[in-house]
Amino acid sequence: MGPAAALLLGYLLGSIPFGLILTRIAGAGDLRAIGSGNIGATNVLRTGRKWLAALTLVLDMAKGTAAVLIAAAIGPDLAPLAAVGAFLGHVYPVWLRFRGGKGVATLFGIALAFSILTGSPFYALVFAAVWIGTILVTRISSLGGMSAAILLPVTAAVLGRFDLVVLFLALTLILLWKHRGNVERLMAGTEPRIGRA
Ligand code: G3P
Repeated sequence: MGPAAALLLGYLLGSIPFGLILTRIAGAGDLRAIGSGNIGATNVLRTGRKWLAALTLVLDMAKGTAAVLIAAAIGPDLAPLAAVGAFLGHVYPVWLRFRGGKGVATLFGIALAFSILTGSPFYALVFAAVWIGTILVTRISSLGGMSAAILLPVTAAVLGRFDLVVLFLALTLILLWKHRGNVERLMAGTEPRIGRA
């Protein structure tokens, strides 16, 4: 498998919009017309279906992890390309006219894959701790996701993996760009809190 195929494999896996599909199967309508309009687990939660939100979270994560691990099994150098493909697939899926999710769960799945590949648990551990910790304290999903994403390239830098700093920094910048509406609401004090919106 060449670099382009790894990118494509990642993209195809990443572009499966699990939140949208599961919500539709459950008979809850079009997720894009609910809450923030995002296709991620946080917005699935706004339909009142906790298990569906949990399943969306796991599957959006798993597609990132699977893309990276499958590519790495074929050729270790292909892992970062599959990560980029999976992330872009989730955030800019061709099937939804490039209007996809915001990337938090998929980035966590990618971090988990690199923890497995490098043997260092810190990528996934730091991400999960910051993500869950921030949400528990603030009950604001976007703040948790953005905080965790920002710390991912920092973790790679601390661990001396500068190749991964570049990869994670690029993905985090896209993630932050996709959260620009959330940042505006956070600054205006109108960002919804989990369980209260
Ligand atoms: O993972 C998405 C989350 O960070 C924000 O989702 O629906 O509150 O904009 P939402």
